[in-house]
Amino acid sequence: MQKSNVPNPAKAEQSYPRFSLSSLGFGPPAPSKDPLPPPPPAVEVLPCEEESSEPKSKVEPIVIDDGLTLLKGRVSTFDVFGVANSDLVPGKYEGGLKLWEGSLDLVKKLHSEIEEGVLMLRGKRVLELGCGHGLPGIFAGLKGAAVIHFQDFNAEVLRSLTIPNVTVNLKKELNQQQPLLTSKTSTSITADVRFFAGDWNEIHQLLPYVCSADQRKATNGGLEEKSCDGYDVILMAETVYALSSLHCLYELIKRCMHRPSGVVYMAGKKHYFGVGGGTRQFVNLVEEDGILTACLLAEVADGSSNVREVWKFMFK
Ligand SMILES: C[S@@+](CC[C@H](N)C(=O)[O-])C[C@H]1O[C@@H](n2cnc3c(N)ncnc32)[C@H](O)[C@@H]1O
Repeated sequence: MQKSNVPNPAKAEQSYPRFSLSSLGFGPPAPSKDPLPPPPPAVEVLPCEEESSEPKSKVEPIVIDDGLTLLKGRVSTFDVFGVANSDLVPGKYEGGLKLWEGSLDLVKKLHSEIEEGVLMLRGKRVLELGCGHGLPGIFAGLKGAAVIHFQDFNAEVLRSLTIPNVTVNLKKELNQQQPLLTSKTSTSITADVRFFAGDWNEIHQLLPYVCSADQRKATNGGLEEKSCDGYDVILMAETVYALSSLHCLYELIKRCMHRPSGVVYMAGKKHYFGVGGGTRQFVNLVEEDGILTACLLAEVADGSSNVREVWKFMFK
């Protein structure tokens, strides 16, 4: 029997018979006879829609690396979605209120890539998919990205958690008199920070930097090196757990990646037992398609979950 990364699976299973609690952990998913509800509509969430973008809950420091601490809020799943603390409820709430280990692995790896001179985020267009707390995107902002767009399945997650996290980390930087990340609500704007909610099948209709079908065809065919207006860096942590959504996630990435120089950094678990997804399943999909190269950057086996990995994808 494998170890679970869900604190108390038995309890969660009792509370949510339809919920594949082991969805991100282990064991077979709970059988579901009902089809998933339709996804929430794709919308842009504006920071100014908030009564206050300050975190409503206690802000906690998260020490990520030597000299790298970010701040995060803590929001109750019950308060926001009316469900007890579960990892996710497929089709309704996709896990964004919890901070998953992979997002910290991803920030650490981005940090080391910058220190080693392999990655530069200054001036770049960055998209974080399945952002939840948004720490990788926030880190990109602190490193001088010109554009940081955050996407989550749930608008509620962006409103209650991502936007307040962006704000509080910005304020910390202001207090320390260091380079500044600001949002549209601030008077001194140095970065274009925006928030988009919706399903990966639809969200390309709202994202400002996507490649047209013609541009993608040109690059996919390999006949012509045509550049396209995509994102320079796409970040995602713990987004590849459900086998059923890997294909649409990959299609979205191909729409959004700058051609020819865009890169994707992905962190996640090697296997998510019970739901069939995992980093290796996603890498298989990418390799079968043959457009991107996949490079394993890190393997993390620290015992806090099953084995985790960080991957990087680039155009061949
Ligand atoms: C397990 S959470 C990870 C959150 C965060 N990246 C972290 O590591 O802490 C998975 C995230 O993927 C996103 N997601 C999952 N399925 C999705 C779908 N079909 N369409 C859009 N977003 C989806 C959700 O927004 C959710 O925040």
